[in-house]
Amino acid sequence: MTHDIDTAPTTGIGEMLISSRSLDEYRSMFNLTDVDLSRTILDCPGGAAGFTSAVNRLGGDVTACDMAYFDRETEQLAVVAVAETDRGNRYIRAHAEHYDWTFFADPDEHARVRRQAVEEFAADIRRHPRRYVAGRLPSLPFPDAAFDLVLSSHLLFSYSDRLDHTFHLDAIRELMRVARGELRVFPLVVSGSSVRYPRVDELLTDLRNHDIAGEVVEVDYRFQRGAHHMLVCRHITSHAPEAAGSA
Ligand SMILES: C[S@@+](CC[C@H](N)C(=O)[O-])C[C@H]1O[C@@H](n2cnc3c(N)ncnc32)[C@H](O)[C@@H]1O
Repeated sequence: MTHDIDTAPTTGIGEMLISSRSLDEYRSMFNLTDVDLSRTILDCPGGAAGFTSAVNRLGGDVTACDMAYFDRETEQLAVVAVAETDRGNRYIRAHAEHYDWTFFADPDEHARVRRQAVEEFAADIRRHPRRYVAGRLPSLPFPDAAFDLVLSSHLLFSYSDRLDHTFHLDAIRELMRVARGELRVFPLVVSGSSVRYPRVDELLTDLRNHDIAGEVVEVDYRFQRGAHHMLVCRHITSHAPEAAGSA
């Protein structure tokens, strides 16, 4: 199936950012508990987030997957990721009124947290390159049900100004193919705006037709205005066997 993936930016940040959110941001965006973090996790797209490094350092088992890992040598990727973090922070400073300054006190704290996360990412991808797997949605290089929990932040919905509805449906089905348990997707709003993806209800119906139940759940994270919900997807298992007839 072909997808309308138009790389030309129409709104917001411009070219898609390779961003570097921290473990604390992931915990808050996805309502992650310590039990969640003890599961096998796929982070797709992993970008230059510090999440994989931080959780594995705590004894977890996280794999990151992103198409950005295809084209660049590790050293070059680390350099690009730092430059991308600075680009993201410049955008946020220039549009500070679009953000809720409670998770981060101000743009300086945002810069400090993201810089620390990207440095963790850069060090980790050099030390453990096999944790960072090149892949391009809607097709992932993993077997069925390879992970307990799959996380996906700031690609789906965020970039719906250039990724069409079919891409969203196919990407979620693929992320669910590799998920034994849940998929959590954050946020539901378009990058650079506080507008929710307008076809969420239609997507939930489409997913249900593929035996995937989706539920919109509020989270604690507050940063981009209007972005405080995630989509949680679970497999719809076959119906429980009918109760035996009464004696
Ligand atoms: C804004 S970053 C989000 C990274 C990370 N989840 C975070 O929150 O910091 C978006 C990422 O999506 C990746 N990406 C874009 N299209 C993709 C695709 N079709 N398959 C896999 N990754 C993709 C980009 O390379 C980029 O690193």
